[in-house]
Amino acid sequence: MKLVIVKDYNDMSKQAAKLIAEEVTRNPKTVLGLATGGTPVGMYRELVSLHQQEGVDFSQAQSFNLDEYVGLPSHHPQSYRTYMNENLFAHINLPAEKTHVPQGDAVDLEAECKRYEQAIAQAGGIDIQVLGIGNNGHIGFNEPGSAKDTTTRVVALTQSTIEANARYFDSIQEVPTQAVSMGIQTILGAKKIILLASGEAKAQAVSQMLEGEMTADVPASLLQQHPNVTVIVDEEAASAL
Ligand code: GLP
Repeated sequence: MKLVIVKDYNDMSKQAAKLIAEEVTRNPKTVLGLATGGTPVGMYRELVSLHQQEGVDFSQAQSFNLDEYVGLPSHHPQSYRTYMNENLFAHINLPAEKTHVPQGDAVDLEAECKRYEQAIAQAGGIDIQVLGIGNNGHIGFNEPGSAKDTTTRVVALTQSTIEANARYFDSIQEVPTQAVSMGIQTILGAKKIILLASGEAKAQAVSQMLEGEMTADVPASLLQQHPNVTVIVDEEAASAL
């Protein structure tokens, strides 16, 4: 894995946005794999500005998000669909019908997972996947214990993830306990991966991902077997390396 250590959150966001913009410029039909959470917000802000100021064109691209909470309708203020609309989709020229986020309130969730996996395959696979990392080393919502051969499925969130994500909800009781998430195999199927981490709270997970053994107990460590991963971390997130 290629490791890039930058000074702070701002630099991390700029570097990541630059890589995405280069990819979309080189291949206008890029299939983007996108992530949510606090970490990529700055990267999306930079991408919006690259689109608005420098004309980076997303009109032929498409996107697949990693995950969505089970039970939240897409218009729910805390759904990942809403997050993506607000942080990115509303501000760039990626056609709405080319943006894909799992439907967390589908009546038949199993069918939804299958459909999502097939849609990724039909698009020719993901060209560049953006990832954050959970404090416990999760990627997407692949919590510790997620096996290498997992594909898009319904997963249970761990207590630590529910607690970490409670900051976005009015109370912890409102945080969904399940999500639809791409699996480890789905993520490893991406041609390129960029993983972002910022802040001291991520230092332990970053060190286990890069320097620890490859184990499902730290799902991000399974990225060690992927041939094209760039990890962009700020100094605080790199502090345990
Ligand atoms: C969430 C998301 C992940 C994200 C992680 C870290 O649960 N499902 O995709 O990477 O947690 O979030 P944050 O960037 O807010 O620390």
